[in-house]
Amino acid sequence: MSKLWGGRFSKNTNKMVDAFNASIEFDKRLYHEDIRGSIAHARMLGNCGIISIDEATKIIAGLKDILVEIEEDKFDFSIALEDIHMNIEARLTERIGTAGARLHTARSRNDQVALDLHMYTKKELVEIGELLLKFEETLLVTAQAHQKTLMPGYTHLQRAQPITFAHHLLAYFNMLQRDFRRLLGVWQGADIMPLGAGAIAGTTFPIDRFAVAKELNFSEVYANSMDAVSDRDYILEFLSFASILMSHLSRISEEICLWSSTEFGFIELDDAFATGSSMMPQKKNPDIAELVRGKTGRVYGHLQAMLVTVKGLPLTYNKDLQEDKEGFFDTIDTIKFSLAVYSEMIATMKVNVEKMEQALAKDFSNATDLADYLVRKGLAFREAHEVVGKCVAHAIQAEKFLPELTLAEYKTYSELFESDLLVILRPEECVAARTSYGGPAFSENAKQLIRGKAVLEKQLEDLDSLKQRL
Ligand code: ARG
Repeated sequence: MSKLWGGRFSKNTNKMVDAFNASIEFDKRLYHEDIRGSIAHARMLGNCGIISIDEATKIIAGLKDILVEIEEDKFDFSIALEDIHMNIEARLTERIGTAGARLHTARSRNDQVALDLHMYTKKELVEIGELLLKFEETLLVTAQAHQKTLMPGYTHLQRAQPITFAHHLLAYFNMLQRDFRRLLGVWQGADIMPLGAGAIAGTTFPIDRFAVAKELNFSEVYANSMDAVSDRDYILEFLSFASILMSHLSRISEEICLWSSTEFGFIELDDAFATGSSMMPQKKNPDIAELVRGKTGRVYGHLQAMLVTVKGLPLTYNKDLQEDKEGFFDTIDTIKFSLAVYSEMIATMKVNVEKMEQALAKDFSNATDLADYLVRKGLAFREAHEVVGKCVAHAIQAEKFLPELTLAEYKTYSELFESDLLVILRPEECVAARTSYGGPAFSENAKQLIRGKAVLEKQLEDLDSLKQRL
């Protein structure tokens, strides 16, 4: 296969070089953006008088036919043609002759690949946004159903204070809501149009970059041709967004693994979202949660790889930049899969309300409430902390929990204790009393749910407006 750039060469490319150089195996997924970008470019070339309208029309029709060929799986991708850009261009010229050979006027693959990637990022952001908001909704719905479900909250993985399952899930909702905010930021970086930068220094032809931007729904045009072809910030931003999102999914994964263990028994995954063991017949494993946790490392790796790739690159395009794709695509696939499966896994899991509540009957997570009780009776918090610490030590020694100590026992540590202390030790009282803004109190949680729904509504609108700008 003769090369589109073969003019100055007198030998065929070494087979290994062809194989090593080619990106077609992974960049073929950009075919749609490549064709759409080329159509906009051809139309602009025609309208600006750089090629004839007749040639532009032929090119556009030819490109549309090629789109069909690819979608019907009738397109022969060739490694010798290196990448998606040259595969499509070569096929166009094969189909329509010289007009096809004019398409690359005032353009380089450097600005072309940048254009494709910007468009592709935008498209994927919309799909990811949909999955993200779906998961947010699942969390809200599940939280709604568990407003009264009490459970221990943990710090250092030690029982800390009573909370509700709703409160716990809303913490994740709030993380995801920030992830969506970050997604909107990634969009801004992707929404800049690079075509017309040429290989590095623009072009001598009277092109109209703003017309291309308009046709392709970009709100900005790169103001510097060198920046346009070397910028990969939007990919770094995407990978950062994805890494933070995965950190959230990984943390909930860890909790799913813990909660579904016999030791906790707080939840049971639906059979459709768990797996068995080939040897141990009793096993029901949370593989999906473990895999999401595991894949988080992979996504972090892609961010790291990209940061290192751009670190020492002189301006402008260097072939190193072809390495921007595989990790980026893999990240997209990974976060989409993780979000999709998580929505269903959380929606279908069984929550063992009793197990959660029983856990609270046998712990000291109400100790802070007892200290607060003494504070309300006039003691300084530090002193109250000391007194209750002694009560806890005493209870442990006596193999009891706080509600089981007698008033006489309490009185040996402070005269301020009265029989009303029993009420405040009840887990539901501990939760109900935490009415500070953002706290787990039932009343406060109800407000958080209302706020959450409003946030979700607004984000659905934001997503809709992105869809209009694809
Ligand atoms: N396949 C290349 C990439 O993904 C396209 C740009 C190649 N440009 C070049 N001058 N070799 O980066």
